[in-house]
Amino acid sequence: PADRFRVEGSSSVWRADCRAKGGSPGFKVAILGAAGGIGQPLAMLMKMNPLVSVLHLYDVVNTPGVTADISHMDTGAVVRGFLGQNQLEDALTGMDLVIIPAGVPRKPGMTRDDLFNINAGIVRTLCEGIAKCCPKAIVNLISNPVNSTVPIAAEVFKKAGTYDPRRLLGVTMLDVVRANTFVAEVLGLDPREVDVPVVGGHAGVTILPLLSQVKPACSFTQEETEYLTSRIQNGGTEVVEAKAGAGSATLSMAYAAVKFADACLRGLRGDAGVVECAFVSSQVTELPFFASRVRLGRNGVEEIYPLGPLNEYERVGLEKAKKELAGSIEKGVSFVRK
Ligand code: NAI
Repeated sequence: PADRFRVEGSSSVWRADCRAKGGSPGFKVAILGAAGGIGQPLAMLMKMNPLVSVLHLYDVVNTPGVTADISHMDTGAVVRGFLGQNQLEDALTGMDLVIIPAGVPRKPGMTRDDLFNINAGIVRTLCEGIAKCCPKAIVNLISNPVNSTVPIAAEVFKKAGTYDPRRLLGVTMLDVVRANTFVAEVLGLDPREVDVPVVGGHAGVTILPLLSQVKPACSFTQEETEYLTSRIQNGGTEVVEAKAGAGSATLSMAYAAVKFADACLRGLRGDAGVVECAFVSSQVTELPFFASRVRLGRNGVEEIYPLGPLNEYERVGLEKAKKELAGSIEKGVSFVRK
């Protein structure tokens, strides 16, 4: 079987060999929640990523089928499936990057915070596994409410004595992806040419697009600013309502997650100038966590950029965002501490 070529033990040799030749290293990546709406397309796209040498797919249901299916793709990464809690440790051991889309998604009428009761416990359990089996891995946390699950993960890692704030990143990339798309639409540009920083957090008013800092430089009327800010903040709800009970964003989220994971892997490889927005431990504001532009490198987050000049509309938005964020962060912290 293909597995024989690069089994667990030999893949580090293969990686070293590639480095020696000046080629790409292969990284080991685990997806937790891999059989879900996000997990499946995310697994497919990661199997296509040339930076990945080993791909572990973990879920509490359906991983054998997803793994068998994805393993037939003729790309380099070796795929292995893990099913259920007692295979979690095997799924995590030796991983360089762990991506977590495990947990329940929203239904119409729900906020991300309504998911807290179920997802908080799931994230805690998975992070306990990470602390034990791959404490040095970079963690990309997708499970909602991200504004609370990232503080939960941090508390779990602190308890275990493994916390490195540089390695824990809440994924807010979908907000940036949406912002680029919606802004490009208004400007009549190709979305690939547009770069919109989105800061704050990942829920409602905590999603704060900085339209005054869009690249290429441009300006918006007050009406355009209000329309764009509202559409970016409610992009997730737009999808939840259109899916009418069948879940939330999965395909665009998988795309965004892969874009973000790829940036993390390029950082790990040592590429220069890898900058993306993420929700991280931060001193950009008085809050302990905040999403802003960060530079990714060999240790995860190497540098956090300040917000830059904000206009009046953004300053008002920032105050609203911070107010809600403070409560969501506190909720996550006290979930683990109590
Ligand atoms: P889904 O319900 O389709 O899939 C979730 C998967 O997690 C399922 O396969 C389920 O079996 C698995 N799971 C449940 N408990 C688990 C456990 N203890 N260990 C491992 N896996 C477990 O949900 P979907 O649509 O994939 O969404 C997943 C999460 O991502 C939700 O919390 C959702 O709110 C969040 N999300 C985050 C976004 C972001 O921008 N950060 C955007 C969209 C969704």
